Amino acid sequence: VTIDFDPASAEFRRDPHATWARLRAEHPVARGPDWWALTRYADIVSVATDDRTFTSTHGVNARGGIIGPPRLPMHFDPPRQTQFRRVMNEPFLGENVASIEGEFRELARSLLEPLVEQGAAEMIAQYASPLTTRFLGRFLHVPAAMLAELSRGIDQFEANVTLDGAATDAASEAMYRHARELVDLRRSEPLDPRSDLVSALLGAHVDGERMDPEAVAGTLRLVYIAGHIAPKIAIGSCILFLAGAPDLQSQLRERPELVPAAVEELLRLETPNAGFARQATRDVVVNGQLIREGERVALVFTSGDRDAAVFEEPASFRLHRDRVANRHLAFGHGAHKCPGASLSRLELRVALEELLSATAHVALAGEPETSGWALHGPTRLPLALQARFVDYANATAR
Ligand code: HEM
Repeated sequence: VTIDFDPASAEFRRDPHATWARLRAEHPVARGPDWWALTRYADIVSVATDDRTFTSTHGVNARGGIIGPPRLPMHFDPPRQTQFRRVMNEPFLGENVASIEGEFRELARSLLEPLVEQGAAEMIAQYASPLTTRFLGRFLHVPAAMLAELSRGIDQFEANVTLDGAATDAASEAMYRHARELVDLRRSEPLDPRSDLVSALLGAHVDGERMDPEAVAGTLRLVYIAGHIAPKIAIGSCILFLAGAPDLQSQLRERPELVPAAVEELLRLETPNAGFARQATRDVVVNGQLIREGERVALVFTSGDRDAAVFEEPASFRLHRDRVANRHLAFGHGAHKCPGASLSRLELRVALEELLSATAHVALAGEPETSGWALHGPTRLPLALQARFVDYANATAR
């Protein structure tokens, strides 16, 4: 088979957007190494809403397969998946999320202070990563004594997840151990299920049956990774974009109420999860291309979000696109659409607001490194940070 693109190639890594643009124009249903990639918005949406033909039960990475046992809700299809989502949603919404904001802002400030003082930082390791880990820890009510272990586990998992075999399994198992420990703690000391995900899941009934604690640990293990890797890389992408757009920086410093619109547009422009995948349950034709039963199909959200059929001048940043928040695919589409969307919007907004208000200017201070498929965004981001008040003595005297 001749392939239309190779996500492992240097060409792809250098500029994934160029590859996606070519495929959208020439091969909308593109042949990858051993899976198909859907690059147009309409095809992604139609497959994401047809769970009978395109199942998540064989895993959601492009190659297929699941590390460990299947985890709710990600590796299940409706209707079971939908029932489960109903019981897991409350802690992700409304008041609970809002109540996290103040503490999170303090955390962002305390991380930024020494970085601004030094004038330079590697923003993924020194800002985005600790920020997202501790935000997740706060959301899940992880006790302080278990936080360092969670942080180590997440780092180890993310360092190994693209490799095959023993290292990945070990890293996943370490996350499972942490998840089981937290589940055990909540079984003996439950919290309010309206604001604590683990307590909510332990009390939930799916298909008329009480959730098994091991299944709850599986969901938690999923949230540890899903809730960290994408927001981390999204914060990185936002900072990277701002570093190259000094006018936008000034505009947002002057009018911080525009930050949410900027976040939404950056989620569209640099969609962090390049592609979750499905498996065809029968032979089916998508946009003229026959896909055979058992073949894998990646939904390239990063590409769909730059489809000119939906977004005018899709490669340019526009602060006031109409309804962009409802239409972009950064959080997916259909039954599996991300439950963490409002949590992430808060996280991104506060991370940027605090960075902008602590600095007078930020700029790149070296070559960023970028992730390969299936994420999209920087994994290393050296930044120069110019303090808002260069003269601290005078600043405090004002
Ligand atoms: C910028 C940040 C984030 C992005 C871009 C993102 C993106 C996504 C996408 C595209 C999906 C759909 C997967 C699919 O179609 O198979 C998804 C699912 C999911 N996300 Fe997120 N996510 C983010 C943050 C979070 C956070 C903070 C959490 C939890 C604390 C979270 C938890 C989940 C879970 C549990 C699922 C599985 C839902 C299901 O299968 O029904 N995500 N996310």
